[in-house]
Amino acid sequence: MQITNPNTKMINPKILYYGFPVILLTTLNEDGTVNISPLSSSWALGDCIVLGIGLGGKAIENLERHPECVINIPDPSLWENVEQLAPYTGKNIVPDFKKQIGFTYRKDKFAISGLTPIESTTVIPTRIMECPIQIEAKVKHIRIPNYSPDFAIVETQTIHVHAHTDIIIKDHHIDPNKWSPLIYNFRHYFGLGNELGNNFRSEM
Ligand SMILES: Cc1cc2nc3c(=O)[nH]c(=O)nc-3n(C[C@H](O)[C@H](O)[C@H](O)COP(=O)(O)O)c2cc1C
Repeated sequence: MQITNPNTKMINPKILYYGFPVILLTTLNEDGTVNISPLSSSWALGDCIVLGIGLGGKAIENLERHPECVINIPDPSLWENVEQLAPYTGKNIVPDFKKQIGFTYRKDKFAISGLTPIESTTVIPTRIMECPIQIEAKVKHIRIPNYSPDFAIVETQTIHVHAHTDIIIKDHHIDPNKWSPLIYNFRHYFGLGNELGNNFRSEM
């Protein structure tokens, strides 16, 4: 017997941002300056972080030319800095599809967002000082899925993880009671709610 559920309905949403941490990706421009791109499509496992990056933006252009980046992870206190970056692209000829949705060109993303560049240890793109977690990474593979040709799936390898000292516990762990990611939830910004419990393998 088939069970029908009166609590669900099939829908056709324009976007599927069902709650992802925001990242600020820094990449190297052709003239040696650094671009910042707000993204939310990422996942991490071991030393691999995979990013979903739209074609037609500056981030993917930069990564194809110079395969290094920093994955800077802001906390909820930085949401307005992130939103200040939101209507801008580092592409100085703004693609029509971006123009139509209100994007304009802005080269100096640090100035517009009030964020501060600091040197990385191994990669050339700078880190963002205010972000509590900063991950230096190298691009290993870029793939454009044929069923979804507007985005690239970018595989990166983590080289170094930097963390603000006030969120570090026991030398090499992030204290989940001190760290909170900024969450992009269907184009609205949220922090985390209260802790619900811990996994059996958690450090504390
Ligand atoms: C919070 C937030 C999350 C976003 N997530 C993504 C994403 O996961 N992938 C993507 O391609 N664009 C995402 N965007 C849109 C990019 O920021 C936008 O394409 C921008 O042009 C990127 O800058 P760039 O062209 O200088 O690289 C997001 C924007 C915001 C504000």
